[in-house]
Amino acid sequence: MKPYAPYEGSRSGAAVPTQEDKTVSSIASVLEESRVFPPSAAFVAKAGLDADRLAALHAEAEADFTAFWGRLAKENLHWQTPFRQVLDDSQAPNYRWFADGKTNVSVNCLDRHLGSQGDKLAIRFEGEKGDVRTYTYKQLHAEVCKLANAIKSLGVQVGDRVVIYLPHSAEAVIAMQACARIGATHSVVFGGFSASSLKDRIEDAGAKLVITADGGWRGGNIVELKKAVDEALSAGGPSITKVIVLKRTDHGVPMVAGRDLWWHELLATQSERCEPEWVDAEHPLFLLYTSGSTGKPKGIQHSTGGYLLGAHLSAQWVFDLKPDDVFWCTADVGWITGHSYVAYGPLSNGATVMIYEGAPTVPDAGRFWKIAQEHGVTIFYTAPTAIRALMKLGEEWPNKYDLSKLRLLGSVGEPINPEAWMWYHRVIGKEKLPIVDTWWQTETGAIMIAPVPGAVPTKPGSCTKPLPGIFTAIVDETGEPVTAPGQGGYLVITKPWPSMLRTIWGDNARYRSAYWGQFNNKYYVAGDGAHIDADGYHWIMGRVDDVLNVSGHRLGTMEVESALVSHPRVAEAAVVGRPHEVKGEAVFAFVILKGQRPTGAEADALVKELREHVAKQIGAIAKPDDIRLADGLPKTRSGKIMRRLLRSIAKGEDITQDISTLENPAIVAQLAGRG
Ligand code: PRX
Repeated sequence: MKPYAPYEGSRSGAAVPTQEDKTVSSIASVLEESRVFPPSAAFVAKAGLDADRLAALHAEAEADFTAFWGRLAKENLHWQTPFRQVLDDSQAPNYRWFADGKTNVSVNCLDRHLGSQGDKLAIRFEGEKGDVRTYTYKQLHAEVCKLANAIKSLGVQVGDRVVIYLPHSAEAVIAMQACARIGATHSVVFGGFSASSLKDRIEDAGAKLVITADGGWRGGNIVELKKAVDEALSAGGPSITKVIVLKRTDHGVPMVAGRDLWWHELLATQSERCEPEWVDAEHPLFLLYTSGSTGKPKGIQHSTGGYLLGAHLSAQWVFDLKPDDVFWCTADVGWITGHSYVAYGPLSNGATVMIYEGAPTVPDAGRFWKIAQEHGVTIFYTAPTAIRALMKLGEEWPNKYDLSKLRLLGSVGEPINPEAWMWYHRVIGKEKLPIVDTWWQTETGAIMIAPVPGAVPTKPGSCTKPLPGIFTAIVDETGEPVTAPGQGGYLVITKPWPSMLRTIWGDNARYRSAYWGQFNNKYYVAGDGAHIDADGYHWIMGRVDDVLNVSGHRLGTMEVESALVSHPRVAEAAVVGRPHEVKGEAVFAFVILKGQRPTGAEADALVKELREHVAKQIGAIAKPDDIRLADGLPKTRSGKIMRRLLRSIAKGEDITQDISTLENPAIVAQLAGRG
C-alpha cells in the first residue's frame, strides 16, 4: 500500500486504512519526525500545570477515573443541586454523567464572574470592515439575559430547539448563552451552509425558532443569511414560528409579517435580569450537525454538565489560561471548535475572548497579525489549512506586526504537516512559544489528545498524548491493541469521558452502531487511523471512513454524491479526496451523465454548473475542485465501486492495482483523462 500523505510534503505520512482495505495491521509508519521541542524554562516557570502536577493528575485518573472526574466536576463547576452519582453506565454505551445534579451553563460562564471581575472584558469583537465592539462580563450578562427573556416571550420553552444561523460575532455567542440560560437546546448552523442544508437541519432538529442576521461580511461580500432562511422556510419548515433578525449589514431585507422580528426592537423592552433555568446535567445543551459516512449529516447531541466540564478543563489545561489572557480561536461558532473554545471554555474560565468576523486576507494578508497586535492577543488557536495559506503569502506579513504579546499557539482540525508546524514555530512563535496540536472531534466535545504546554515536549506533526482522564488505544481490525511502535491502526477511546456525545439526535441506533458497533461496545471508535511512537506520542493519519477533511472541515463523500445526483443531468457520481497543498484534501468528483457526454466548451459549462449546484445543495465548502465526466465508474462484477482506484486516479498516480476483476477495465483509461 502506498504511504498516504494528507498534503504534499508531509513527513508524518503513514498509510491509512480506508473503507475497502481495512487491513490496518499491515500499516507501518514511514518517515517519522524526530525533532523534539521541550517547553522553555520561562514558560514552565509560570505554567498552571508543570510536569509534576500533570503526572499527579494522570495518576489520579488512572487510579479511579470516575472519582477523578467527580472531584473535578465538584471543584470546577457551580452546581445548584449537587450530583450524587458521577457515572451511570447502566445503559452503556449511552453513558450518563452527573445525572442527578442540576446546573446552568450560562451561570457558569457569566454570573460566577460578575462579583470578582464584572468589569473585565469578556469579548473583543472586530468586524471585517474594522468596526470594534467590546463587552465586559457585566455587559455580556445583560445582553444574554435580554435575549433570553425575548426568546422566552416568543414561547420557547425548556428543551425546545433553536437554530442559530448568524455571522461569526459576539451576537452568536450571546444567542448560544441565551439558549443555555433558559434551557433551550441550540443548533448552530455555519453561515457558509446553503439554504438547503439549513432546511434539513431545521427539520431534523424540529426547531421552533431561528436566530439569524440580515447578512454578514466575508471576503468583502455580504453573506445573505436572511435570504437563505427565507428560502429554507419557504419550502416548508413547519416547526418554525418565529425568526429573530440581527441588523448587521443593513442592506434592506424583506421581513415576513408575524414571523420575523428585529433583534434590536425585540430586546429594547427586555429586562437585563433573567433567572436561569436549572437543568439536569444530562439536559441537551446543543445539537451540532456533522458529516458521517452516509448522505445524511448527524445531529451530534451534547450534554450540559459533562460537556461544560470538558470545555472548561481542557481550555485551562491545554491553553494554560491566565486572568490577563486574550484568547483568540479563529474557528467560526458554526463548528465545534467555536462552541468549545469561543463560546464556552474560555468564558467559563473568565478569559477575554477575541472574535473576528471576516476573512484572513481582507484587506490584505496581514489582517490576522494586525488583529493580534491591536487586541493584544496572547493565545492564538487556528487550523493547519489557515497556517499553510498564510505561509504561502510570505513571512513579511506577520513580520510587519508586533506579536510580542503572544505566548502560546494552537492547531486543530487536521494533521499539521511538519513544514507548516516549523513555520508557525519560527515565524509566529519566534522559536519560543509552545505549539499545542490538539486532536479531538465534534463528538468528543473537547480536546482529547494534546500537549499540556508547560509539561509535555512537542514533536512537529504529533498531537502528543491524551489529557488526564482520557484513555486511548490503537487497535487492529480484531480490536486487539497494536503494541509495536509506529504500527498503524484504529484510534479508539477506551473509557467514557464527561464531554462525550450522548447520542445522535433522533437516531440512537445510529449512535450505537457508528461509534460503538465495530468492537462490540468496548471502545468508542473515532474513525481516524493513527499510530503511537516509542515515546507514547500519537500521530493521526486521517479518516478511515468516507469522510473528507477539506480545510479542516468534515465532508462526507456521500453527501457530495447525493448533491451531484440531485442534478437532472447526473446519473451517478463518486467522490474521493485528493491531497491539496493548502486545503489538506480537495474534493474530486467522477460524474456519469444521463445521455450523451458533452465535450469542449459544453463540458466546461456543465462542470461549472455542477459545481454551483453542489454549492447550492450543501454550501461553498463542498464545491468539487475537480469534476471528471465519464461514461462509467470502475466497478467490480458485484457492482462495488473501486474507490481506491478512483483515489489513485485523482492523485494522478500510475495505476498499479489489478484491474482485471473490473467489470469494465477499459473505463480506467477514460477516467484517468486518457480516453
Ligand atoms: O480526522 C480528525 C481531524 O478532524 C476530525 C474531526 O472533525 P470535526 O468533528 O469537524 O472536528 C474538528 C475540530 C475538532 C478528526 O476525526 N482532526 C481534528 N483535529 C486533528 C485532526 N487530525 C489530526 N490532528 C488534529 N489535531
